[in-house]
Amino acid sequence: MNETLQTWRIDAPGQTLVLSSTGGVPGAVYWGSALPAGEDLVALSRASVMDVTGGMIDALPPLSLCPEAARSFDGQPGLVAYRGGQPLYPRFRMEQADGQQFTCRDHDLGLALVITFEVLGDTLVGTTRLEAEEDLTLHHLAAPVVPGPQMGAEIVDFAGRWIGEFQPQSSRWRPGIHMREARMGRSGHEHPPLAYFPEMGATNTQGTVFAMHYGWSGGHVMYAEELADGRRQIQWGHATGTRPSGTVFRTAPLYLAVSDRGMNGCATTFQRLLRDHVVQWPAPQRPVHYNCWEAVYFDHDPEVLRDIATRVAGLGAERFVLDDGWFGRRDDDTSSLGDWDIDPRKWPEGLTPFIDHVEALGMRFGLWVEPEMVNLDSNLARAHPEWILGPSDQIEGRQQRVLDLSKQGVRDYLYRKLATLLANHRIDYLKWDHNRLLPIGSAAQTEGVYALLNDLRSAFPEVEIESCASGGGRIDAGILSLTQRVWLSDSNDASERLRIQHDAALLLPMAVTGSHVGPRDCHTSGRVHDIRFRAWVAAQRHMGFEMDPRELSDDEAQVLTEVTQWWKDNRDWMQRADILRLDSGDPSIIAEQQLAEDGAQFVVFAGKAAASSQIVPRPLRLTGLVAGTRYRIKLTNRGDAHHLSRGTPVLKSEALEVSGVYLMNHGLNLPWSFPDRMWVIEGTKL
Ligand code: GLA
Repeated sequence: MNETLQTWRIDAPGQTLVLSSTGGVPGAVYWGSALPAGEDLVALSRASVMDVTGGMIDALPPLSLCPEAARSFDGQPGLVAYRGGQPLYPRFRMEQADGQQFTCRDHDLGLALVITFEVLGDTLVGTTRLEAEEDLTLHHLAAPVVPGPQMGAEIVDFAGRWIGEFQPQSSRWRPGIHMREARMGRSGHEHPPLAYFPEMGATNTQGTVFAMHYGWSGGHVMYAEELADGRRQIQWGHATGTRPSGTVFRTAPLYLAVSDRGMNGCATTFQRLLRDHVVQWPAPQRPVHYNCWEAVYFDHDPEVLRDIATRVAGLGAERFVLDDGWFGRRDDDTSSLGDWDIDPRKWPEGLTPFIDHVEALGMRFGLWVEPEMVNLDSNLARAHPEWILGPSDQIEGRQQRVLDLSKQGVRDYLYRKLATLLANHRIDYLKWDHNRLLPIGSAAQTEGVYALLNDLRSAFPEVEIESCASGGGRIDAGILSLTQRVWLSDSNDASERLRIQHDAALLLPMAVTGSHVGPRDCHTSGRVHDIRFRAWVAAQRHMGFEMDPRELSDDEAQVLTEVTQWWKDNRDWMQRADILRLDSGDPSIIAEQQLAEDGAQFVVFAGKAAASSQIVPRPLRLTGLVAGTRYRIKLTNRGDAHHLSRGTPVLKSEALEVSGVYLMNHGLNLPWSFPDRMWVIEGTKL
């Protein structure tokens, strides 16, 4: 046992974590912007010791990577476990450390704690594993615990709901625990596993910000706690009580990001992480989608769908996704989930002639499935009631229940059904839905889903999968390691979508974020939006259409065709660009700048989400440019200017050449516009 001080540093691009131990579980003495190479870690550890005073115990209990109750730590412990009904109070000693992996043991209790760090992209990734000699019941195991910023004023985490995903909410740091928990077995609309910790004064584009993402789809817990002594800790783990008793437990990866460039530094760290390190891409280029859900719902008529396919191919679609309604006797959402056989009433010749038609039009074909679910009104539920998760008198969600994917037999059945479909048809895409919360959270269910997805991906590596869960109910690095796209929201309302996309960019890159041009009369909000606004909002992300193309006027069809062509002309660099959220002096403007990897070009999408309180548009400041370099700026859609815009801002008539300093310190004067309009500005470095 080594009682002397040991120190380690772990560096990812732009951040450093310094750990120290005097024999117990190591703890972070520094987490922040990258330290210089020669930093004296012993001096730094000594410098980080805080004072004590009256009215408290005689030393600060260690805030380690797994804080222990048995060392007088009075906050949330990193491990809460029971054996034989009795709580365990481990006191771990450090036994092995190689600078990336730290193994600590409590020999009396027969426990080993293995904490591992790796660097992925610009993130630092921590996981914790607990091994026990005898069975124990785990209540909570934290991924490596790091201190919360002492200069931080707020905790920004996310709430949300169906058609209203990724709603950032800000809470003040104050004594006690701020807790978020997704208990119902899904990362969830309600609690996406993401949080930002800005220091005082930070904005989208400036200041110091810390951020964390827990890469798990099965429900998680976050504790952001200010201790009685004023220190702060942040813990993430699986939702409490979602694992059966056992001897080996592992947290999901916890991704850590640090920025000295405002929220955008962390956002782009996560965007790049997902795009370049988490998602496995069969093919790099994103095709324009068409999804028929809001056009026909369950009413599948091959003749109508052939006509729709012909029309959307003409508009520029490159993949046709046949949504819910093709299987069993699925005429509404009350039956047939589980019966993954083509409905001969609707598709008497099967899907192949339709797929032939789609392919003849130059499109590929995708299919909707919801494998984890079952309706009681299905052949599957009648044959295997024992495969259904949860009590028989449970409250259903969307008239459906969940199959128990911890059972090998259930996974085998689903694998057989899906593999048969994929083997017998030219399907290169699955929209994989998950339309209800579990009756009770269970990590084994999530592990079963991952195993099924993994098996299918190994057998059909060229098939891409979209993660949908009533829209954005299951979005995290866990599911994205097995899928390539998320259906961010069931809201195709361009105004809602503008906001949702903006906030989801704190995690998601363009390449994985589906966005469709919806019907003129929005089916989820009742709003009517101009086609220009609908098309440009979809063009901000992985573009697609989801309306009935037979409703389009000539003008609408023309605008849609043109914007789609613009998107195709730009997608190669845009799908590798950073999405930078812009600060705006006008809260009614939701604006972002997509900056190419090489910095040579960018596009700004400036959406007007509401009428402004002032009359003349305030200049919009750009970001991330080279100060001394000049840029050529053009207003791509200047033809959209309304006649009520009566002045002469230069961009209405010609391109502008100005320096990065001007653009970042003064900003662009844009023409006046109605709400629910988008200005698209393209820039190139001269
Ligand atoms: C969910 C999805 C929709 C659609 C329907 C089909 O609600 O989020 O996009 O696929 O299921 O039933």
